Amino acid sequence: MFIINNNENVPLFKQLYMRIREQALSGKLPEHAKLPSVRELAAELSISRNTVEAAYQELHAEGYIYSRQRRGYFVSALDLHAEPPTPAFKPRPQSPPVPPALHHTYDFHPARLDPGSFPLALWRTCLVECLREGLSELSVYGDPRGDRGLRSNIQQYLERSRGVVCDPDQIVICAGLQHSLDIVAHLLKEQHCSVAVEDPGYHLARAVFRNNLFNIVPAAVGSDGLDLETVRASGSTIAYVTPSHQLPMGCVMPIANRRKLIEWAGSGNRLIIEDDYDSELRYHGKPIPSLQGLWPYGNIIYLGTFSKILSPALRLSYMVLPQSVLARLNEQYHDYFSSVSLLEQKTMAKFIEQGHWMRHIRRMRILYNKKHDVLIESIKHEFGSKATILGQGAGLHVVLQLLVQNHGEAEIIRRAARNGIGLFPFSTTCVKNKPTLTNLLLGFGGMSALEIEQGVHLLAKLCF
Ligand SMILES: Cc1ncc(COP(=O)(O)O)c(C=O)c1O
Repeated sequence: MFIINNNENVPLFKQLYMRIREQALSGKLPEHAKLPSVRELAAELSISRNTVEAAYQELHAEGYIYSRQRRGYFVSALDLHAEPPTPAFKPRPQSPPVPPALHHTYDFHPARLDPGSFPLALWRTCLVECLREGLSELSVYGDPRGDRGLRSNIQQYLERSRGVVCDPDQIVICAGLQHSLDIVAHLLKEQHCSVAVEDPGYHLARAVFRNNLFNIVPAAVGSDGLDLETVRASGSTIAYVTPSHQLPMGCVMPIANRRKLIEWAGSGNRLIIEDDYDSELRYHGKPIPSLQGLWPYGNIIYLGTFSKILSPALRLSYMVLPQSVLARLNEQYHDYFSSVSLLEQKTMAKFIEQGHWMRHIRRMRILYNKKHDVLIESIKHEFGSKATILGQGAGLHVVLQLLVQNHGEAEIIRRAARNGIGLFPFSTTCVKNKPTLTNLLLGFGGMSALEIEQGVHLLAKLCF
């Protein structure tokens, strides 16, 4: 019996075709079994003969059934156990699906921001103003380097707050560090093949260089930041550094080392990539001026981002290119369009213009300073002499170095996850220079003061 349904959207002949095909393929209709005649089946199912005829013809055309003159239709021998033919191109094994982000009650990820900190009302006002004023601009592609107004605002901000010396024309608006570094790597790979990167250091910067086929030389990091001897010995012609707040160790490169690094770059066709990702967040003393400001017309590419103060989800960042690299960009990218939404750029420009950006930085510095202090106090209280804190006083994370026998990073992370604590592995930042002691990366931006206290209390119990 073939069950077909008048109320389905699928035509009746197609339904009948599918039912017969299913039964033939499953073996329920054995090979060479005779199908009912067109007239019989039409009567049985109360459908027209034409409908049955159409279904049989399609099955016949596809080889599921065969006909014998004056005897009717029969099920073909379908060899149901035959292997499916090997495709000419084997499908690539599916990469495992990206696991959904786990929700942890205590999330120590170093890149989390305070969930309530985004200046929603102000941003919305700026956005609506931009929409009202700039409708004509929304119908064109605009400058490949990004909105001129935003570039001017960034230039003024960088000059005032970071000591960066540049012209707005040297600034390119990008969609995050990976985007800017990807462009930089592309521009540099004709003349350079090897880059010295901090080890431990930012794993995503390494990924971009690796994907652009650079030879990556891990350069050790000491208490003064990047080890210059390793850089010199490496033969690399590019150094990627986070001199104002080394990721992850949190140290600041002292002025003497900054000068030496500049000297190294100046004595050959060499280049420094300065990643100044979170320098707004320094809780004691003055902000550390940029490296770029010490050598404004030299070979320094300066990278900055709005991800740490405003939102990582906006994907808004910028880079300042020295003239030599800018010339290459103009040559190779002149017919590219900006990859960053103009509306987002214009909104950011207005946000800066109206003074919200500087006020927001001040608010965020106070907010995160409080969380930072709670974290430090909680660690001291819960860990005592069993651990020491590295890189405190800035940014959104510290490194907790365990000084006594403990379960080791991997086991601590597993135990933490079972107890609702999310820890980003410090080891992800290391290449060659694996620490002998267990280091835990503790971000505090995304948690409330109470969650930080409770999280540290729990963590201390499961490390040893
Ligand atoms: C060292 C470093 N640079 C840059 C960034 C910012 O990257 P993006 O602008 O892609 O958000 C981060 C973010 O965590 C970082 O750790």
